[in-house]
Amino acid sequence: MCGIIGILGNQDVSGRLLDGLRRLEYRGYDSAGICTIHDDQLDRRRAEGKLDNLARKLDGEPLPGIIGIAHTRWATHGAPTQDNAHPHATGEVALVHNGIIENFKPLRDELIAKGRTFTSQTDTEVVAHLISADVEAGMEPVEAVRTNLKRLHGAFALAILFRQHPDLLIGARLGSPLVVGYGENETYLGSDALALAPLTQKIAYLDEGDWVVITRAGTQIYDKDDQPVERPIVNSGVSSLTIDKGNHRHFMLKEIYEQPIVVAQTLKSYVRRLDDQVSLPTPDFDLSAIRRVTIVACGTSYYAGMVAKYWFEQFARVPVDIDVASEFRYRQPVMEDGGLALFISQSGETADTLAALRHARSEGQKIAVVVNVPTSTMAREADLLLPTHAGPEIGVASTKAFTCQLAVLAALAANLARAKGRLDPREEKEVVRHLSEAPAAINGALAYDEAIEAMAHLIAPARDVLYLGRGTDYPLALEGALKLKEISYIHAEGYAAGEMKHGPIALIDENVPVIVIAPSGPLFDKTVSNMQEVQARGGKVVLISDYDGIQAAGDGCMATITMPKVHPLIAPIVYAIPVQLLAYHVAVLKGTDVDQPRNLAKSVTVE
Ligand code: M6R
Repeated sequence: MCGIIGILGNQDVSGRLLDGLRRLEYRGYDSAGICTIHDDQLDRRRAEGKLDNLARKLDGEPLPGIIGIAHTRWATHGAPTQDNAHPHATGEVALVHNGIIENFKPLRDELIAKGRTFTSQTDTEVVAHLISADVEAGMEPVEAVRTNLKRLHGAFALAILFRQHPDLLIGARLGSPLVVGYGENETYLGSDALALAPLTQKIAYLDEGDWVVITRAGTQIYDKDDQPVERPIVNSGVSSLTIDKGNHRHFMLKEIYEQPIVVAQTLKSYVRRLDDQVSLPTPDFDLSAIRRVTIVACGTSYYAGMVAKYWFEQFARVPVDIDVASEFRYRQPVMEDGGLALFISQSGETADTLAALRHARSEGQKIAVVVNVPTSTMAREADLLLPTHAGPEIGVASTKAFTCQLAVLAALAANLARAKGRLDPREEKEVVRHLSEAPAAINGALAYDEAIEAMAHLIAPARDVLYLGRGTDYPLALEGALKLKEISYIHAEGYAAGEMKHGPIALIDENVPVIVIAPSGPLFDKTVSNMQEVQARGGKVVLISDYDGIQAAGDGCMATITMPKVHPLIAPIVYAIPVQLLAYHVAVLKGTDVDQPRNLAKSVTVE
């Protein structure tokens, strides 16, 4: 999964391509490259690692040309080296690719048998060779692309240049997103509208299987059956402003601190304080008829879904199945016709979640989507669109998107409960009141930032860390472990507190810190019993609770983190803050790349 951009321009493109890549770096940062055509040649600059390496290379060796393509890579096939960096090129054809060519091996063998030489270990290079071989044999570029697209299995968004045709840019998509941007005597291709935002707001989203021929004379889109089609040109509405870190050292910290505001903003769309009701967009299906909900997501969004399962079952008494998207469609899930399938995603582009969404639709499900990027593919494919209003999330570790997802999911649970006759107006009022308390409570939690920073040194030397919680704090334990792993590279696991004694307790010794998430409430005593089982075996506990909880059980802990006292409904929203801050400060102590941790990408657009 990678980011691609292409420009058929009327002035030099390499600076603008580089700028576009900066806006696409969330899709991968293993290597980057640009290719233009000038002096009748395809000319490339490629560099391993972050975009700054490519920028330095371009400073030393500028790349002229008014047509070009560019790529930022998240490595799938082949190490993140310069040789494997896109654009891949033959003498005649250069291209950039987002996706995976699943049948690249037989195609590569076939091409090698025909005498072609490969210079990378990527799946992508076969596409350049397939098209180039036909062009070299005299086929027109458009025909060579049309013919060879049919040979590719897997997922792709492609942007392709031809040495002998400096006024031709061809794009194609299947499974990976691609948009066409329309400018003043210029036309663009990009993985998303964000990449093109400084260039144009006039965007056409290509459909599955579409391909597009861009020339100076105009742009023609073809559908998967090679028929000319029109795709609507819409205003992307995406801001061209570059998002900066403000006064914060990292985007992650900035985004953690934005949570009181963005959760309030999100809640504003879903609860009405005037009459204390939850108010969701009206779906074109009958919510009261929903007998089962299937929730599908990945990573942090999946943990938000796990919290929602507790809420949907508790409030609406509707049974919930929940799956990680990469497992969902391959286990042949049973779904009743007319059921509700709910997909949760920050980006709205995660390939596994998107594939699961399409599978659920093919099984007759109504599709609800909780998503942060309103122009994303998932947003466009939803029957019921429930946007979070977290604003752009740049740090790879998801923070504010998670708490905003929880806010939306709580409102959805209440809405479903009301539709099912399980929530009377008085109870609904209570739900709205508690949700409305969340932004201030998050602020209260942020006040403990310095205390958390001061205790991060207790965790930083650990090789392994465990997180424990019960009820809705169990998904939070999983989320805490994920945050710590992904940005500090410390091995961490989250467990349901009661499950410890069934195996994981064997891991406990004085070198394994155990973070216990236990707001005072109905499950507090049980969690504390599990905590004491850990302490009895020499385990070093960090207890995250409220004042009452710390008073009751804080003695004997290695450290405690005091949270404001909150209603159990909003506890997962509020307790997300210390969990995020702890991971952040540990990562800073360890000196990792907090916003762009190794091996990861913000948006995972390959299966
Ligand atoms: O964009 P999505 O919410 O669909 O992304 C899902 C996961 O890739 C994402 O939550 C990932 O786990 C984050 N890096 C977690 O911080």
